[in-house]
Amino acid sequence: MKASNTTGILFVCLGNICRSPTAEGVFRRLADERGLSPFLRVDSAGTHAYHVGEPPDARSQKAALARGVDLSVLRARQVDHGDFYQFDHILAMDGSNYAHLMQMRPADAGAKIKYFLDYAPHLNIREVPDPYYGGGNGFERVLDMVEDASRGLLDELQQLLRR
Ligand code: 4NP
Repeated sequence: MKASNTTGILFVCLGNICRSPTAEGVFRRLADERGLSPFLRVDSAGTHAYHVGEPPDARSQKAALARGVDLSVLRARQVDHGDFYQFDHILAMDGSNYAHLMQMRPADAGAKIKYFLDYAPHLNIREVPDPYYGGGNGFERVLDMVEDASRGLLDELQQLLRR
């Protein structure tokens, strides 16, 4: 059973310290700006437990804060079976996350599993690249992509809420 009649959105990556907490923070901010927060429940999780209990990676926090998004209160957790019943949309950052979620998904669960970047089709890329081991502007790229896809998802949710 779902907890409420709000729409639940869960962002998922591998460690829940870089991409998915960034998505959670950015999406929350943009939802707030549109006045949609009362209708949404937003969370993030990782497919693996390596970083459970940790705050987002310092590089993700710094990049997000430079755009006015504070990720410091978030703590990593692992996806669990209850998530497939509690959330309406579970959004994977890459193909490995997607495959993991599809394998875990209980047959009777209501959650729809998609690639997050399917909400930003103009980017012509399906995966948010993992910035953890990379250098350069990986964290900025994550923010750019996540902002685009968040806007796309919010556009769709806004249409549904208006009906
Ligand atoms: P994330 O990035 O999945 O975007 O949180 C990673 C974080 C940690 C690791 C890999 C990716 N790791 O191997 O520990």
